[in-house]
Amino acid sequence: METVARLSIQIDTFRYPDGTVALADLNLAVAAGEFCGLLGANGSGKTTLLKIMDGLIRDYQGTMLLDGSDILKLHPRDIYRKMGLVFQNPDDQLFASSVFEDVAFGPRNMGFDESSVAEKVAVALEQVDIAALAGKNIHHLSYGQKKRVCIAGLLAMGHEILLLDEPTAGLDPMGEQRMMELLTRLNRDSSVTIVMATHSVDLVPLFLDRLHILSRGKVVRGGTPEEVFTAPAEMAEVKLRLPHIAELIHQLKNDENLPFRRIPLTVGDARREILEMMERGTR
Ligand SMILES: Nc1ncnc2c1ncn2[C@@H]1O[C@H](COP(=O)(O)OP(=O)(O)O)[C@@H](O)[C@H]1O
Ligand SMILES: [Mg+2]
Repeated sequence: METVARLSIQIDTFRYPDGTVALADLNLAVAAGEFCGLLGANGSGKTTLLKIMDGLIRDYQGTMLLDGSDILKLHPRDIYRKMGLVFQNPDDQLFASSVFEDVAFGPRNMGFDESSVAEKVAVALEQVDIAALAGKNIHHLSYGQKKRVCIAGLLAMGHEILLLDEPTAGLDPMGEQRMMELLTRLNRDSSVTIVMATHSVDLVPLFLDRLHILSRGKVVRGGTPEEVFTAPAEMAEVKLRLPHIAELIHQLKNDENLPFRRIPLTVGDARREILEMMERGTR
């Protein structure tokens, strides 16, 4: 993976017109090819930060660089060619009558001829596994299908960077898993750099390379899931918790004095730790 920063954000402050300070003293960088998460409780500033990254919010103190250029000085076309934001609620994003028409809007607007548009739409729908829905009325889609149409709409424009606001919120457990698998595939196979906001602590360690924990408008910790998921008390301070499996092992280690050497974050990791510990115990 290259380590060039595609996004580099330094916000001194951003306040909404009603005076609410939504972000303050926030620094973060996103490297090319990363699949990273903004993890934070409700109100921690995730949506605000994504809107700044995409150039939708502009009246902040600080700088946001896209490939080294100040986003406020770029022509919107130069932003939307590279990067797009998927809103939390697909109904805020979708507007055309059919899936095809909605996904075609971006490439059409970019001036591609109809046959290139049709090809881009077909490839994008294929990428998100909904090729069969091309002719379907948007209003008849499930919530999860609508989320996929939103992502296809951005992919059809050739985005190299995807910003997603709570892409798994509102999906059932299988839908959550499939959405994360889809995003992983886009990241690994199509080299799309992905930044997603989420508050789902159980899911992220399975998929994300890097996490930035947001609390009260600041990034309070950043690193791999192993590095940022610290003790339960520290997680509670930022109104989050550990993944359930990590919480269980933490209690067994600290309250029951079982000799775990580390706190695993996933079921697979926990299984290995438990087997290793039993092995040590029987020797
Ligand atoms: N349009 C707005 N006007 C005033 N305050 C807002 C607005 N949108 C969000 N906020 C406030 O900004 C803070 C961050 O909100 P947000 O970025 O939506 O957090 P998150 O996405 O992490 O839930 C919260 O305190 C929220 O109440
Ligand atoms: Mg939000």
